[in-house]
Amino acid sequence: MQKQKAYRASLLRFDSAGHAIFEVDGLLVVGPDASGRQVVLDVGGYADVASRHPEVAVTHWPGRIIAPGFVDMHIHFPQTDVIGSPADGLLPWLENYTFPHESRFVAEDYSAQVATFFVDELLRNGVTTALTFSTSHPASVNGLFAEAQRRHMRLITGKVLQDRHSPDGVRDDTEQSLVDTEDLIRRWHGVDRLGYAITPRFAPTSTPAQLRGAGELAARYPDVWIQSHVAENRDEIDWVRALFPASRSYLSVYDDFGLMRERAVYAHCIHFDDEDRALMRDTGSVAAVSPTSNLFLGSGFFDYAGADRMGFGYGLASDVGGGTSFSPFRTMLAAYYVGRTTVEGVQGANGKPGLSLSPQHLWWQHTAGAAKALGLAGVVGNLQPGCEADFVVLDPAATALLERKTRQARNLDELLFAMIVLGDDRLVERTVISQASSA
Ligand code: GUN
Ligand code: ZN
Repeated sequence: MQKQKAYRASLLRFDSAGHAIFEVDGLLVVGPDASGRQVVLDVGGYADVASRHPEVAVTHWPGRIIAPGFVDMHIHFPQTDVIGSPADGLLPWLENYTFPHESRFVAEDYSAQVATFFVDELLRNGVTTALTFSTSHPASVNGLFAEAQRRHMRLITGKVLQDRHSPDGVRDDTEQSLVDTEDLIRRWHGVDRLGYAITPRFAPTSTPAQLRGAGELAARYPDVWIQSHVAENRDEIDWVRALFPASRSYLSVYDDFGLMRERAVYAHCIHFDDEDRALMRDTGSVAAVSPTSNLFLGSGFFDYAGADRMGFGYGLASDVGGGTSFSPFRTMLAAYYVGRTTVEGVQGANGKPGLSLSPQHLWWQHTAGAAKALGLAGVVGNLQPGCEADFVVLDPAATALLERKTRQARNLDELLFAMIVLGDDRLVERTVISQASSA
């Protein structure tokens, strides 16, 4: 009984349709479930919930907002120091900055040191769950998993597979890469809150043999995730067409090798046709929409209308270091900009304005929506009963301008939008990670 805790503040969560539920004066009660996981036991208006738990001590945060911890669907932990590296586009950016930098993660101590900074930065920004790339070196995976385990975080990562068209220092060996992947799955997947993702970098840097092996592992370990990149950049797409002439499209290459299924997460998904969108939907694969990266690298605009019309799942991602910020607020704002330009056909040219994605939908895409896309609905990204108790405490008066603007909000949409447009790490006063009761 005494292991239960209650937190009083304004409170944001989502219903199963993705609509926000907001309590101006809310109470969140957390405590161990039958298996000892720290979860939300009760939630709602303060008076109501408090009357059901008279014995639980309440921590009160007046003027603050408790909200679900953010879920980042695609980020590269070894690219923490690659942020803000300018290039003409994706392929020169990879060659000139990313690959040389990633080669450093062969060293265990370097991997561990960056992992510590990376996890600090996630938490400082309110991100409590991430699906992240490591590098092709098993040391990078071990370093990040060890750090996330130490912090009790729910985190998914995997060793990058890239056995061709990659320089010395990051290129791996076909056979050994698959052996290493299986060893890492056995060592880490399902341990505490950690999950493994089979991680072919992207089709051009894997031989057909490596992709085939990855697909075989994906079939053998069906609850392991798959992550890769697809249809991000025109030059990349031309390259894939030349390398895999038998596949219908870039996306089909992954399908042809058994890499599309539930828990398969593809970053970008920009230059798609309707057959690609249908393939995403029919296989249960999902998109990690990465707007700051797509704007920074000049890759293009995710087509929200097309995704919704064809009905495939998606959520938001920073894609650091192609992406420019760890902050979910920066990512949600960039997604809004992208939505403005996303009308089927050519944006603006047909005289129609772009979409105006609602603040609730933007927030959902980075919390409960992202969790759902990862197959973690009801586990993270929300504060409904049974969810693991990862949450952020937001201070809507963190800056003078935020204070002025949020004070004038007349409804929830105006409040959320003010935080999306003006917010950054200063808005996140604290990040609370669910801990097993024995911890
Ligand atoms: N495609 C292949 N590798 C990468 C990467 O590291 N970042 C991005 N944005 N796209 C990629
Ligand atoms: Zn990426």
